[in-house]
Amino acid sequence: MAARPLAVVTGASGGIGLALATELASRGYDLVLVARNQEGLDRAAADLNRSGAQVATIALDLSVPGAAKALVDQLGELDVDVLVNNAGFATYGPFAETDWDAESRMIEVNVIVLTELTKRLLPRMIARGRGRVLNVASTAAFMPGPLMAVYYASKAYVLSLGEALHEEVKGTGVTVTTLCPGPTKTGFQNRAGMQESKLVQSGLMDVTVVARIGVEGALAGKPVVIPGLKNKVQAVTPKLVPRKLIPGIVKNAQKKAH
Ligand SMILES: NC(=O)c1ccc[n+]([C@@H]2O[C@H](COP(=O)([O-])OP(=O)(O)OC[C@H]3O[C@@H](n4cnc5c(N)ncnc54)[C@H](OP(=O)(O)O)[C@@H]3O)[C@@H](O)[C@H]2O)c1
Repeated sequence: MAARPLAVVTGASGGIGLALATELASRGYDLVLVARNQEGLDRAAADLNRSGAQVATIALDLSVPGAAKALVDQLGELDVDVLVNNAGFATYGPFAETDWDAESRMIEVNVIVLTELTKRLLPRMIARGRGRVLNVASTAAFMPGPLMAVYYASKAYVLSLGEALHEEVKGTGVTVTTLCPGPTKTGFQNRAGMQESKLVQSGLMDVTVVARIGVEGALAGKPVVIPGLKNKVQAVTPKLVPRKLIPGIVKNAQKKAH
């Protein structure tokens, strides 16, 4: 019997990461789930076990420098068929007032760890002639984001890196896909303290739909996947409107509704 393929998903204790893991399990993947919260990971693993997947968990704070290497060391010689770089979070508020400690950890998780895990696992995929990398960015990647300036910049980095790598690995059997969800119903908004922003109040997409579209796109080897028509329109708007107007439009959308 052929061995089942393996996916490693960061930020898999809840939200989009857990939904992506669930979608992959339904397609026959075994899983390694990574996040800080061991209880959340155990609950996720128990649910996924019921769908027939073999699931291992690694409790790790990815904001601590060296975490990406520690994760790859724990994976050892395992062949990773799909790497999902999903772990991420945001801070909300004027740049002059937001907390640097939180923001530097955000850069570590959203940017550094995503880059380092890809760097460490991509060569092994290329050597085997197959593999999928799915990096989770955001529609925020397409524009500057006043009131979430560092978060938007971090996601612009993820999109830029992903599109470049997609081109570099063409013909190797490996693909790199960047998933760009818009506001999605998870714990993300509460954690960022942005529940009252107009953008969030204007509606949130269902996380299982985002995950299905994301996994389909990654397995099909697409360069960029934007789930939902509203998000596709948002992503293309910066190309249609003079660039100097975009920061004002985004700032207005990010303001509190009341
Ligand atoms: N929800 C949205 O509206 C939205 C829109 C666009 C893009 N995204 C992106 O989607 C990704 C997932 O977000 P989400 O909405 O699912 O948020 P979420 O519900 O808050 O989940 C975030 C996940 O990342 C993990 N995580 C956070 N910090 C971590 C750390 N230091 N070390 C290890 N794991 C960590 C969390 O687990 P622990 O707390 O257990 O560590 C959790 O599993 C993020 O990259 C986010 O930027 C979200």
